[in-house]
Amino acid sequence: MKSTLTSKPPEVRRFQKVNEILDNFGNNPARLIAILQSVQEEYRYLPEPVLSYIATSLSVPRARVFGVATFYAHFSLEPKGKYIIRVCDGTACHVNRSQSLLDLIEKRLKLNNKKSTTDDMLFTLEKVSCLGACGLAPVVVINDRVYGQVNTDKLGQVLDGILLEEERRGTGEIE
Ligand code: FES
Repeated sequence: MKSTLTSKPPEVRRFQKVNEILDNFGNNPARLIAILQSVQEEYRYLPEPVLSYIATSLSVPRARVFGVATFYAHFSLEPKGKYIIRVCDGTACHVNRSQSLLDLIEKRLKLNNKKSTTDDMLFTLEKVSCLGACGLAPVVVINDRVYGQVNTDKLGQVLDGILLEEERRGTGEIE
């Protein structure tokens, strides 16, 4: 009989995407970091049940998987928004008024030191140190897109554009 996804146990169906990633890396424990990177790209963070599932699937101690996931700053065990806004507050960006950009985002998206992700899971704000593009200071990166020499007007327009696009997506106007 032909095996279909629905004929598989619930656990396997639930982690279907994780299984695909594990397969892509040959279920090789030595590729754990790359596996976690792919999983994070898929989920935008590393859910704890997924980490436990990876540990079981690779037959490695759960503590090792969690150890790697918590060691690297790049990995997050907290859910993140669809748009991750990274505002550089390194020296060059700081002297070029990066704080005014942070203030604008916090006010506009109702975020603060203790709350970095919006309730609708659309945005996560991160303050980061030098992004290596000091010549463009101040620098903001939204997902993979870099915005250099940003001021509050320009950043406000970028946020407006994203919000409008999401609104149109919500109404089915665009996909
Ligand atoms: S200090 Fe912001 S890119 Fe270097």
